[in-house]
Amino acid sequence: MEIIHVSAECYPMAKAGGLADVVGALPKYQQDLGHIAKVVMPMHRTKFLLENEWEVAHKGGFTMGSTYMEFTIIKEKTNKLGFDLYCVDINGLLDRENIYSYDDDTERFVAFQIAVLEWINQWEHQPDIVHVHDHHTALIPFMMQNSFVYGRLSNIKTVLTIHNAQYQGWMNWEKATYLPAWDTWKWGLLEWDKMVNPLACGIKCAGRVSTVSPGYMKELFLSANGLEGLFNMEAAKCSGIINGIDYAVWDPATDTYILDNFSVKDEETGKELNKKKLCDDFGFDIKLPLFVFIGRLVGEKAADVLPGAITTAYTQYGKTFSFLILGSGDKTVEAQLQAIEQIGYYNTQISYNEKLSHQMYAGADFLLMPSRVEPCGLNQLYALRYGTMPLVRRTGGLQDTVTDFGDTGGYGICFNQATVEDIVHAMGRAIEVYKNKKLLPQLRNRMMNIESSWESSAQKYIDLYLSI
Ligand code: GLC
Repeated sequence: MEIIHVSAECYPMAKAGGLADVVGALPKYQQDLGHIAKVVMPMHRTKFLLENEWEVAHKGGFTMGSTYMEFTIIKEKTNKLGFDLYCVDINGLLDRENIYSYDDDTERFVAFQIAVLEWINQWEHQPDIVHVHDHHTALIPFMMQNSFVYGRLSNIKTVLTIHNAQYQGWMNWEKATYLPAWDTWKWGLLEWDKMVNPLACGIKCAGRVSTVSPGYMKELFLSANGLEGLFNMEAAKCSGIINGIDYAVWDPATDTYILDNFSVKDEETGKELNKKKLCDDFGFDIKLPLFVFIGRLVGEKAADVLPGAITTAYTQYGKTFSFLILGSGDKTVEAQLQAIEQIGYYNTQISYNEKLSHQMYAGADFLLMPSRVEPCGLNQLYALRYGTMPLVRRTGGLQDTVTDFGDTGGYGICFNQATVEDIVHAMGRAIEVYKNKKLLPQLRNRMMNIESSWESSAQKYIDLYLSI
């Protein structure tokens, strides 16, 4: 099969979150299964763009609303990622340093999607699957089926994967004129709750809809930021496929970002050496258990509860632990974290610090993820692979991937609420585990032996395509 992934992010070209990791890995594993998988994304002005060699694959133009736009598709020359990576440049719209958060994001992503279809429409052959990710690319199935110019593409099978249903790309109705002339009888496909809702439109039009864990899929039927009714109507084509992790990037035995490589055989010394480096860098006492939090400081990740939970834990347990945070987001939370003296806080605002994140997975004892919403969560999977015990709220993909050490075969710590009380209690349990010098290595052994590579999930996507 030939599969075209369309996404706003792809690691290592551009990453804001887990979406990039998935789109940077899944195609590689699909290639290993004998398929052709390609990625098309906007040409963001990133380090990867500037450091690699590109060739022009296509040039074209289209009218969006009343503006004529020229676009260029470039292809990375050396197959560096193990699959063909194409980037779309549209003058003035896409060649920017950040991936999101511009006032004209609607125009940027609609134009990107049109450019992708303009290009595919010129191909002599047709791909078997167009696989779109999140709302930034979710208008593609609608346009393939209802924009007159793309009539040729209307029978190609489409899949929408939802990495986060909180963001839906809402647009005012006036902007529907941006889409290449479409069958206006079909306006209902674009709409949800009186607005053009790209994510809702993708759910209605895609041949299959998947999300990144079975647990999150179940939650979406009950609560999906206004789309729960739609998920129930479309339930027959919805399913959850858990993400894998890219073992080529996330393996403590070969990771070039960390000080000392280790595997399950020598994890105790390996983790100790990596922990020493982190503790030296941030001025922590190596004898104390080290907790980390890695991620955006936003409500979805329950970052607002962190300052209260950490200070309460210090009051309750004394200075018996260290805490290191890597992330940026809500300014109030950032200021509150900076004000807690005993903790290390590394702000990622300027650029996401991939290297430090690897060092944290390798050197920490515990990773805290109290997320209110977590479609899959990759950080807990990285932590497990690096022998770092995850403390997670029972939600979405976290619930699917972490079993409490109190349950048979368990290896993590699970709690129910994103509250100060629940987090502090979970941290208390972690501190006790840390003191038990026999138990911790046993649990680490268990974690590191868990299989979470992409192989089986990559095959599940192939099966999903075949089911259309
Ligand atoms: C989003 C979700 C996260 C998921 C990732 C990759 O970032 O919030 O839970 O792991 O996408 O699918």
